Amino acid sequence: MTEPVRTRRLRRTDAIRRMVTQTRLDPAMFVLPLFVVSGEGIDRPIGSMPGQSQLSVDMMLDVVTEAAELGVGGVMLFGIPDAKDETGTSAWDPDGPVPAGIRAIRGAGLDITVWADVCLCEYTSHGHCGVIVGDSVDNDGTLPLLARAAVAYADAGADVIAPSDMMDGRVAAIRTALDEAGHAELAICSYSVKYASAYYGPFRDAADSAPAFGDRRTHQMDPANRREAMVELSADLAEGADMVMVKPAGPYLDVLADVRRACEVPIAAYQVSGEYSMIRSAAERDWIDGERVMMESLTSVARAGADIILTYFAIDAARLLEER
Ligand code: PBG
Ligand code: ZN
Repeated sequence: MTEPVRTRRLRRTDAIRRMVTQTRLDPAMFVLPLFVVSGEGIDRPIGSMPGQSQLSVDMMLDVVTEAAELGVGGVMLFGIPDAKDETGTSAWDPDGPVPAGIRAIRGAGLDITVWADVCLCEYTSHGHCGVIVGDSVDNDGTLPLLARAAVAYADAGADVIAPSDMMDGRVAAIRTALDEAGHAELAICSYSVKYASAYYGPFRDAADSAPAFGDRRTHQMDPANRREAMVELSADLAEGADMVMVKPAGPYLDVLADVRRACEVPIAAYQVSGEYSMIRSAAERDWIDGERVMMESLTSVARAGADIILTYFAIDAARLLEER
């Protein structure tokens, strides 16, 4: 009998396994999404996302301080405005929760990047990602509004502008508006490959952004489509995206690996609310080992090709990495 290939030699001890590991997580690659509301002293737990809250700016600052101390790479701010209207005008209110949150983080001098999600669905009364004409979201009428919101977040001091609306041409529209407003240095991370996913369910609770009628399937991608990701990717790169995102992460690792092979810019992957809540809720019941599944899920996303991971686990995972 010939000798078998003895792959177990390199799995013998912890030290050997650590040495030959092919994927390493680092807190600097994590970006923590946060939900910001107006007011003071508010920490309103989100029922469908155990461990996550809607936070007023002062309370948010405590969380961002903790994240920065743990070496977390960034935070991504979502705003829940006091008032909504047909066109989402509060999205570019300089005193809205997101600009106020960005200014607070900048003012505190924290060593962490600040990302601003750009979309109108948290700000429109109907919960759609753009203006409604007839019974659908009007692409070209939405672009100038997204650009206005992006400039408001840039003026407040954001490091990364992240459009998540999936309108065609939004990266170019936002790039032009940022340049004209004197923000040529500011990076755009486009949610380039974003699927119409049921995994966003808990987020829509958290951000109060569920569409009042219809769904997002006329602008977000069909979960069945893999090659189409390349079309979205090329368009956004041609329009000037500095980084691109794949979303959701875990259920779309094949797409993430394709994107990794197809471009050289940094790639972010968003482990979305549904992915988070499924792990958290199973762990609370002791059906799974929550810490291990958390780390395994993040490792898988990194292994498939993500340089940056947006995850609600950012602080928990960073703490665990620090302990090791
Ligand atoms: C806004 C937006 C959504 C998410 C990020 N930005 C919701 C949606 O598109 O319906 C989802 C994030 C998550 O589920 O964690 N367009
Ligand atoms: Zn939206």
